[in-house]
Amino acid sequence: MSYAGHQNKLISIEEALAKIRSNDCVISALGAAEPVGMLEQLHTIADHVENVAVSTCLPVHPVKWFTDPAMKGHFINHAWFYSPSIRKAAAELGTCTFVPNHLHLAGLDRLAYRKPNVFLGTCTPPDRFGYVSLSLSVTYERELMEAADIVILEINECLPRTYGDTIIHLDEVDFVVEHARAPVELPIPESEERDHMIGRHIGELIEDGSTIQLGIGGIPNAVAGELMNKKDLSIHTEMFTDGMVDLYEAGVIGKTPHSFGQKVLTGKMVATFALGTKKLYDFLDRNPAVALMRGSWVNNPYVIARNKKQVSINTTLEVDLTGQVCSESIGPMQFSGTGGQADTAIGAQMSEGGKSFIALYSTADAKQADGTRKTISKITPMLTPGANVTLHRANVDYVVTEYGAVRLRGAPICDRARMLISIAHPDFREGLTEQAKKLGYL
Ligand code: COA
Repeated sequence: MSYAGHQNKLISIEEALAKIRSNDCVISALGAAEPVGMLEQLHTIADHVENVAVSTCLPVHPVKWFTDPAMKGHFINHAWFYSPSIRKAAAELGTCTFVPNHLHLAGLDRLAYRKPNVFLGTCTPPDRFGYVSLSLSVTYERELMEAADIVILEINECLPRTYGDTIIHLDEVDFVVEHARAPVELPIPESEERDHMIGRHIGELIEDGSTIQLGIGGIPNAVAGELMNKKDLSIHTEMFTDGMVDLYEAGVIGKTPHSFGQKVLTGKMVATFALGTKKLYDFLDRNPAVALMRGSWVNNPYVIARNKKQVSINTTLEVDLTGQVCSESIGPMQFSGTGGQADTAIGAQMSEGGKSFIALYSTADAKQADGTRKTISKITPMLTPGANVTLHRANVDYVVTEYGAVRLRGAPICDRARMLISIAHPDFREGLTEQAKKLGYL
């Protein structure tokens, strides 16, 4: 038996895009769940529409509707999380603007701001009962689909069928289009020695039986590699990554319910979206051990806190000597987004025996206005003017560089400054100490 009910909802991409009107609020699914077929053609309706706001999160395809200067006035990208193509378009074209958010509230906050008119997402082909899987993200998609006037999904036979809140019936969808395309792959960054040094410092502090969350960026991948000798870890994370597949295959992830520190969906690896390589997508396909659940639930700090020994590992761009963490902008230039950094760091600290790690290289070769590079300390006396605080200093626990790990939780400013200077690059410690004295921290 096969389900043929979707045939009467099937329209062409052209017909789907014709449903968008001027001044509409359109929502696109996140990252590897983006409806590429529709988004690649969105610019073709520019002559008929003005001022269409399209919400995106970590878009991975640099499509014309926001990268072509001629699109200004027709479309504006309301971005929850910047990727390289948005950064460029925001700086040079003015076709993108950032939406401040904690990821678990992205969808709900959007509803407080504006009702969505059109939702554009992706799904697997229907099963014989008419159920499809939203596949690689259910971060904000369910809330916004449920509220949108029109829901259009791109059926993509190349997507993995994931389980959890991703499963919906086609009755909940107004129209479908068909577009087969392998999901975009995020290459695994090559780990450098400094990644391994940071990974080892963190690995030493992670106990067997912990529940882990790994953030986005090069360092978290290296951290996963340092956890291979642990026992009975569980996964409760925003983003499911290749490193977690390696841990599972190495037998580090507990498989019996009694061994799970992860308490909210015992026996499952919990995430809200996945982005990585084909190996990851193959692992997720029809895998009953993984549950992709709504981001409003997965990343809710109170839900995370119900796990035992929840550990969150995130990275950052800059930390000041009082512990303020900026992970999303370089000065005033929006670089990425808050994502779930605060959600997961706060949730981990609320969990029994939990720990939150903010990891960073001690230095960066920062691009200067004239295009040259200059080595700077990422631990700074004060945040760069215009920098956005991603994690409030009252919510910071461990900070880790190649030079060690220090715990700021509960510590006064004088001790924070001393501890942070002790893990700064040796070439910058004297200067930081002088500045800390001038600022009255020491
Ligand atoms: N000043 C100026 N430039 C800096 C800098 C600083 N303090 N720190 C880093 N940079 C530059 C680097 O030199 C690099 O530039 P390049 O690309 O021109 O070489 C660039 O910024 C990126 O730095 P890198 O360390 O490679 O970043 P990453 O790709 O590992 O990502 C974050 C790190 C912090 C941006 C990323 O983890 C993030 O967006 N975090 C916020 C969201 C989050 O944590 N979510 C967690 C749940 S998934």
